[in-house]
Amino acid sequence: MESVAKLQAKKGREKITMLTVYSAGYAALLNQTGIDTLLVGDSLGTVFQGKADTIAVTLEEMIYHGSAVRRGAPDKFIIIDLPFMSYQVAPLESLRNAGELLKRAGANAVKLEGAGEVVLESVRKMTAAGIPAVGHLGFTPQSVHSLSGYKVQGKDNASAVKIKADAKLLEQAGIFMLVLEMIPAQLAGEITAELKIPTIGIGAGADCDGQVLVLDDLLGLYPKAPKFVKKYAALDKQITGAVNNYLTEVLSGKFPGPEHSF
Ligand code: KIV
Repeated sequence: MESVAKLQAKKGREKITMLTVYSAGYAALLNQTGIDTLLVGDSLGTVFQGKADTIAVTLEEMIYHGSAVRRGAPDKFIIIDLPFMSYQVAPLESLRNAGELLKRAGANAVKLEGAGEVVLESVRKMTAAGIPAVGHLGFTPQSVHSLSGYKVQGKDNASAVKIKADAKLLEQAGIFMLVLEMIPAQLAGEITAELKIPTIGIGAGADCDGQVLVLDDLLGLYPKAPKFVKKYAALDKQITGAVNNYLTEVLSGKFPGPEHSF
């Protein structure tokens, strides 16, 4: 299994690979691959639950999906997202909630968005308590309303300077890795060069130390996907095709055949 030290040692040497996954079945398949880390992302609010955003996801839901992924992938380094309002209120509450993700879901690390004062103090407390924390800057989905929608961040100078400064503050506070979402490739490259910790990009170009995608997007399970997604399969068509074949065979009496009967 990967560890904080092994992941950090890859910086500048070897790319880090990460995928977001929510269920034991898919996690078991990923456990058989060479993927470095699994992320149980709160994107499960949109991808798995079909909601408009990640705001309503609860800590209990993260524990439920996190423990399913842990059961499916016992050999993988698993990062679980702290959901909205589980780490923004008070550092001690953040610490307790992060602890729940380790104790009850089997997380190896937790991820939290932004770099506000409470977040920075939460990261310091987690680091002091031995809980590895991953940061997340750029487009931070839990702030979708204040960011006025799903938009690339850091395009103007002021916002680029702020993201860079926040990345340094998070590094000083103790995060061991940083996700950069939907920012210009050049800015991501500069941040990657200036930090000692690894960066993981999603819609942040090729110069990050690693890449993350949502597994469902990579598999092409849905027709629509953001620009930064590359579909490595078209499972949507395979699934609807398989279901239509099943329907045809049940209706025609071809299934079940003698080989499926007792
Ligand atoms: O929730 C998630 O899946 C994420 C990744 C997209 C980085 O945060």
